Amino acid sequence: MGDQAKLSVGGKEIDLPVLKGSVGPDVIDIRKLYAQTGAFTYDPGFTSTGSCESALTYIDGDEGVLLHRGYPIGQLAEQSSFLEVCYLLLNGELPSQAELGKFEHTITRHTMVHEQLSSFFSGFRRDAHPMAVMCGVVGALSAFYHDSTDISDPVQRRIASHRLIAKMPTIAAMAYKYSVGQPFVYPDNKLSYAGNFLKMTFGVPAEEYEVIPAVEKAMDRIFILHADHEQNASTSTVRLAGSSGANPFACIAAGIACLWGPAHGGANEACLNMLREIGTPDKIPHFIERAKDKNDPFRLMGFGHRVYKNYDPRATVMQQTVREVFDALKVNDPLFETALRLEELARSDPYFIEKKLFPNVDFYSGIILSAIGFPTEMFTVLFALARTVGWVAQWNEMIGDPGQKIGRPRQLYTGPTERDYVPLSAR
Ligand code: CMC
Repeated sequence: MGDQAKLSVGGKEIDLPVLKGSVGPDVIDIRKLYAQTGAFTYDPGFTSTGSCESALTYIDGDEGVLLHRGYPIGQLAEQSSFLEVCYLLLNGELPSQAELGKFEHTITRHTMVHEQLSSFFSGFRRDAHPMAVMCGVVGALSAFYHDSTDISDPVQRRIASHRLIAKMPTIAAMAYKYSVGQPFVYPDNKLSYAGNFLKMTFGVPAEEYEVIPAVEKAMDRIFILHADHEQNASTSTVRLAGSSGANPFACIAAGIACLWGPAHGGANEACLNMLREIGTPDKIPHFIERAKDKNDPFRLMGFGHRVYKNYDPRATVMQQTVREVFDALKVNDPLFETALRLEELARSDPYFIEKKLFPNVDFYSGIILSAIGFPTEMFTVLFALARTVGWVAQWNEMIGDPGQKIGRPRQLYTGPTERDYVPLSAR
């Protein structure tokens, strides 16, 4: 594509600038389209629309590539740590040893939540879904941390970002503890980000909690795999909420609400439930037939992706991690065999081949999380915990963008045209 695209609307031809990113498809700039032609574009689901400029994360869905600030997700999952990835996403470059140490220190010192926030939990039913609790409690943070809600102040923005990354594991663990009726466990500054989360979730005050290094590493890697994923539904929600000037805690709560849906973050929970429903490999063909049946709403959860038309690179790492966790915990969930067989059968089926439906990040994650001891309701909470850095980094990028405007899409109106009100007595 050249530097200009030509568009003919109602006999009028206009030139539209073509923008080039550092890599990836060219983008046709239609910002002046309405002014020049009086027409809007129509793209529900944004399948062909770039909503912003971003230097954070790049995905090549056809090739199955995911880069954070240019670094491949496989390398980060293998060689980095979650907090280093957080630093990278927030600051653009990998930290030096000293920078990383300072960042880890800052995050660790922000892990406690205002003591009064604890009483907030008791307003929820014990059997509430933890994502419902997360929406409420994270939204409530703006009522507790007034000193970091002025979005025009870069220092306050940075403090809010650190607070959110640091407090999410504490709040997530509290949501779990509340649901099982156990006391909240305070953060332990000696532990790593992942180790601390495991202790706050599974530890009890009556006993010493020993972090199993292989599980801690797996947890950290799962966090890395979920850290960011460019303009997905929840991230776009955070950006849209933030575009009005809303405070960061409110924006992240909006992201959590969006992530909860089964087509997005809720898919990991739905996937494990599906694998349990399938049970044994002999039942797989029946479920594959159901997934292919247009008259049946059933879909293979953990399969397919809006962007990936190839193997999701996160699913590759996730599959390897299953074995590591099983070895460390000396467990072997037969559902893993079912999942492997399901993947094999689906990937040799013409329906899935033609539609380029491959396992996504959620396909194997539930098996690992279940082996570690998390109930299915907590799966999406863990996704939210890890994605918080992506949301926060994207939000910061948006606020710092001089071209940023309030998000305000237009529509194709198909309702009634103007008509006169009919009094009730005449209807
Ligand atoms: N099982 C069976 N058929 C499927 C599936 C599936 N999992 N996914 C897509 N299809 C079919 C779909 O029926 C459609 O067929 P047709 O063209 O004949 O109408 C075609 O593939 C394209 O699907 P689509 O719904 O138009 O694609 P989309 O880009 O709007 O949806 C998706 C992407 C992720 C919502 C969808 O693949 C899906 O529902 N997958 C299951 C849920 C899931 O695993 N979600 C997690 C996504 S990764 C984590 C995250 O980002 O949150």
